Amino acid sequence: MRRVLTGIQPSGHITLGNYLGAIRPLLELQNEDDVELLVFIADLHAITVPQERAKLRSNIKELAALLLACGLDLNKSHLFIQSEVPCHNQLGWVMECNSYIGELERMTQFKDKKVKQVDGVSAGLLTYPPLMAADILLYDADLVPVGEDQKQHLEITRDLATRFNNKYGETFKVPEAYILKTGARIMSLADPSKKMSKSDSNPKGYISLLDDINVAKKKIKSAVTDSDNKIKFDKDNKPGLSNLITIYSALTNKELSDIENIYQDSTYQKFKEDLANIIGDFLTNIQDKYNYYISSDNMDLILNSGRDLAYHYASRKLQKVYHKIGLGRY
Ligand code: TYM
Repeated sequence: MRRVLTGIQPSGHITLGNYLGAIRPLLELQNEDDVELLVFIADLHAITVPQERAKLRSNIKELAALLLACGLDLNKSHLFIQSEVPCHNQLGWVMECNSYIGELERMTQFKDKKVKQVDGVSAGLLTYPPLMAADILLYDADLVPVGEDQKQHLEITRDLATRFNNKYGETFKVPEAYILKTGARIMSLADPSKKMSKSDSNPKGYISLLDDINVAKKKIKSAVTDSDNKIKFDKDNKPGLSNLITIYSALTNKELSDIENIYQDSTYQKFKEDLANIIGDFLTNIQDKYNYYISSDNMDLILNSGRDLAYHYASRKLQKVYHKIGLGRY
């Protein structure tokens, strides 16, 4: 049995980038035999930057309903909230004590987020990767589906696992990142040199899975492209158009070259209209299911059962770790 695990922060509306980078590969793996999926809402990670209480609460609930709406199969997948399984904080501390400040300061995401933080940089922003390592190592995850931006965090997770195993004896499975070729880095629709992000101050840059359908379609139609009008995938010279072709390819499972062929005699306008309709259908389907889950009493049952199973796995691993280090009495 292979174990697949991933987490998403409830730090804003989740975007098409999150879907294509992390959820789509998760759903792909869910179709395989002999897999168990653990999916969690990374609320402890979200508080590394300031959060408003009521907003955080509603984002957690929204994200849970959205993940279910995207198609988690509850026969294979278990959904839980990170802060409800305290072993994450506990192993997180152990991982912090096995990390070096220098390696944490070199993390790209820390350097990027640090400059954006006007109200002071929390220590949690620096110690984010050891907590993320704990999230993964607690469950002996084999595969971790993530977008390109999390690659470095997966590398440090592997380093920390290996470091611990060398020091205390074989304890953790060393996990592999699972990053798809298409869709692992979706760019902003307003500025294709930047990653599509749920915390972008310009809502035209991203499509939220809960965007009004017409608003989402307009965002595609007004996405920044060049003026060449030839539908050709060329990341360096046509970054905006190439980003749209990537989205098209990921949502339809068509090869990039097939899309170029379909539109070889077409204009950008026609291509964008078709993509807008594809996105419209995709969002309508998710939003219908979301509306069901968000008002269903089932959500609490699902999250309780996910929490209990996660705790069952995580507490055993934590006990083993404490024992190896010599913490406590047993
Ligand atoms: P987060 O919440 O920033 O993003 C969730 C997932 O979405 C992917 N992603 C993207 N993929 C493609 N294009 C984009 N524009 C894009 N933007 C985001 C991210 O790579 C991620 O896979 N640290 C993680 C949460 C986390 C986690 C974990 C993940 C905490 N613990 C353990 C895996 C395993 C994060 O901040 O993701």
